[in-house]
Amino acid sequence: MESAVASTGSGLRCSPNPMPKQQHERRSARVGFVSQLRPRAVRCRRSPHPDARAYAAVVVGAKGGEAGGVGVERKRLAVFVSGGGSNFRAIHEAALGGEVNGDVVALVTDKPGCGGAEHARGNGIPVVVFPKSKSAPEGVSTDELLNALRELRVDFVLLAGYLKLIPVELVQEYPKSILNIHPSLLPAFGGKGYYGLKVHKAVIASGARYSGPTVHFVDEHYDTGSTLAQRVVPVLANDTPEQLAARVLHEEHQVYVEAVAALCDDRIVWREDGVPLIRRQTNPDEYT
Ligand code: GRF
Repeated sequence: MESAVASTGSGLRCSPNPMPKQQHERRSARVGFVSQLRPRAVRCRRSPHPDARAYAAVVVGAKGGEAGGVGVERKRLAVFVSGGGSNFRAIHEAALGGEVNGDVVALVTDKPGCGGAEHARGNGIPVVVFPKSKSAPEGVSTDELLNALRELRVDFVLLAGYLKLIPVELVQEYPKSILNIHPSLLPAFGGKGYYGLKVHKAVIASGARYSGPTVHFVDEHYDTGSTLAQRVVPVLANDTPEQLAARVLHEEHQVYVEAVAALCDDRIVWREDGVPLIRRQTNPDEYT
């Protein structure tokens, strides 16, 4: 069902991101919430969850930075990592600093000894090993993973260099609530086998003059979900894969933190054709 809202500008038609499942269950036990201030130049569908319409002015976040809004609950995040975890650390720091209106409440990894898992343990963040494997016999099953995420009341799942395909049950449990970061401008240089330096080697070999990270929603396949945000970096004539990787990684941290901040602020809307957009924090009539 669609409600017509006076359209004075772009005539964009969109609907808000659904309320995270866990949060919807928490909220439904409460009464009284802030109703959405709809941007003027947009036509939106009504949310299936009425309390997902909460939207308000920026306020100072719990730890001093600017994040969240009146009526926007702090979100609970699970980050999935297989490696060093620099994106995880950027998100964790942004959450601690107030730039992201959420908290990392779980670190999920297939590599219990990886840098990301070490960082989580050092910061008191519970580590869940998934899946079980020869090198990680302490790993949990899909059902156990889902139960752990439910017990931790996780709102959003963030893949940050997690190299395993996530189970379809997780995708179904978290509709429009799982993000991934990929180190190329998708749909180019994505899919099975495109990870780590292989991506950057392929970009250089193709002769492409630009590359950059993509933040996208996750579906059942590798790197095929809807693109939410991208950044562009140049590919220089004498770049090595390592140099290009470092340039892209620098942008990854910024674009992922910005996308997660928008997700946690309920600033993502879905254009009628299925493309997710980020509503600007400074001007709710503008989208990126
Ligand atoms: C990043 O390049 C990311 O795009 C890819 O894996 C790498 C992870 O880096 N998915 P880090 O573990 O976050 O440092």
